[in-house]
Amino acid sequence: MSSVNGKNSSPMLARTIDEVRQQISLWKQAGDKIAFVPTMGNLHTGHLSLIEAANKSVSRVVVSIFVNPMQFGENEDFDKYPRTFDADMAVLEESNVDMVFMPVVTEIYPASIDSMTRVAVPQLSEMLEGEYRPGFFTGVATVVNKLFNIVQPDVAVFGEKDYQQLLVIQQMVCDLTMPIEIQSVATQREADGLAMSSRNAYLGADDRILATAIHRSLKHLVEAIVAGENPTFEVGHACQELDEKGFLVDYIVVRRQQDLAVPEQGDKSLIVLAAARLGSVRLIDNLLFQLID
Ligand code: PAJ
Repeated sequence: MSSVNGKNSSPMLARTIDEVRQQISLWKQAGDKIAFVPTMGNLHTGHLSLIEAANKSVSRVVVSIFVNPMQFGENEDFDKYPRTFDADMAVLEESNVDMVFMPVVTEIYPASIDSMTRVAVPQLSEMLEGEYRPGFFTGVATVVNKLFNIVQPDVAVFGEKDYQQLLVIQQMVCDLTMPIEIQSVATQREADGLAMSSRNAYLGADDRILATAIHRSLKHLVEAIVAGENPTFEVGHACQELDEKGFLVDYIVVRRQQDLAVPEQGDKSLIVLAAARLGSVRLIDNLLFQLID
């Protein structure tokens, strides 16, 4: 069956690095450009928006599904992270994807993970998410580096939902002189504003309703700052609001978009970022905004 843009609608499923390399090399010989969307599966509309963007820029789209043990802390949810292979493949059949790479853990980490070379992006990785999840961004940068070496894409697409991750990958690609263009896609939200995330499935019915408060608080915070209110006061107010609703707030901050540094006088491209826990579920969200003179 062929789709509107002439692609075969069933993506090739590759389980090994060799299979990926063979196919990529054929595509490259034929002059095709490759776009890559790395994921941990449990695909939702957020992931699909990345695939859609990938399809706009090049002729071949590769999606990886790999729940990466190196980026999970000891007390995190690696074992219970949702693995929904059949549903994911059904979605990908309809998404103009050319190849799905779904390796087992030993294909990516043949030796003990602790003994393996890793990629660290200093400073940027240590703040915000990195402070609450030590080692997280090293795990992300390492696996993305390995996946880039396997897929050798021209373009790779990441979501602004994980804004700090996007910057870490951009810095890695720049620092290590990798010939890959990083594209970003805006955060996709549920109708009530909650940022789509695989972890939303962990929320019970009451917490699912409560969770929308994060986006609302960030929206109010941005509106207040743009209107000239005191950012420190407004951040305190947003934290208190979420606290009163039963969240444990890890952080709410206002930073510069380019490097997540604390804004200085004259910085106009800003972002508010939040991480908060509802019971055992940890949610992150952010909003990009501009200050106007
Ligand atoms: P995962 O959480 O599956 O996300 C894969 C990609 O989808 C990331 O680039 C993420 O930012 C994007 N994404 C997730 N939710 C989104 C939303 N609501 N709107 C837009 N984009 C969204 O992020 C990871 O996996 C992993 O850390 C990975 C990069 C695959 C490395 O293991």
